[in-house]
Amino acid sequence: MGYSLGSLFAGIGGIDLGFEQAGFTPIWANEIDKFCEVTFRANHKNTKLVVDDIYNVKARDIPNISVLAGGFPCQAFSVAGYKKGFEDDRGTLFFQIARLLREFKEQNRLPQVVFLENVKNLYTHDGGKTFRAIKNELEDIGYYLVDKVLNTCEYGNAPQNRERIYIVGFLDKEKRDNFKWIEPVKLTNTIDKVIDWDKKVDEKLYYAKGMKCYPLLAENIKNNQTANTNLILEKLANSKPL
Ligand SMILES: C[S@@+](CC[C@H](N)C(=O)[O-])C[C@H]1O[C@@H](n2cnc3c(N)ncnc32)[C@H](O)[C@@H]1O
Repeated sequence: MGYSLGSLFAGIGGIDLGFEQAGFTPIWANEIDKFCEVTFRANHKNTKLVVDDIYNVKARDIPNISVLAGGFPCQAFSVAGYKKGFEDDRGTLFFQIARLLREFKEQNRLPQVVFLENVKNLYTHDGGKTFRAIKNELEDIGYYLVDKVLNTCEYGNAPQNRERIYIVGFLDKEKRDNFKWIEPVKLTNTIDKVIDWDKKVDEKLYYAKGMKCYPLLAENIKNNQTANTNLILEKLANSKPL
């Protein structure tokens, strides 16, 4: 089977899809949201998906896996989410990943690799304390870490400015030392190539004039090629909660 993947906070299975395309076998996943479940199951027919709160998941319910991935909820750290971090319930969910890893450790079957994804703000949140706490926890469990911010538009030929931090932990120090980040690929895709502007969808799916953030969006989306999402999120974060 090669390398197997277990996925926490699996959402619609985007991370799982990337691993699958890279030759891994996604065998198990957990996600709480039943709407995500529909898309996840459509994309990953052979993966056992457990739809439940991660607090109810025990390591003994998870099969042996080579890699544990988790794009844990980021609202608590993101500029659009009022940055409360570990004070916000959604910020403490990282510790559920750590709990499961510790349970794996007790059972002597820690995954070889742990792969985490979050918003870039995680680096600077609370003066860097949040990021250090996450790293300390993973190192204490036994992982050797690398981390980097990558922007979607530089790696997937996708016309989206989306900066995310990736943390990769290896049980084997030598494997960590030899790890190389992927090389950028040239961006040739444009929004026009991936969106059919003539195709109409249900009216309720359009962000209409008169809605709260319409002026902000109109001001920042100057043409069909660019939308400065970071700027929009920054402004939303500084405005009153919606
Ligand atoms: C940032 S998203 C991850 C998206 C995912 N990487 C993907 O490709 O779709 C975080 C996910 O965590 C899920 N989540 C939030 N709280 C959870 C909990 N207590 N237990 C399990 N999943 C939870 C959310 O429903 C959401 O889908």
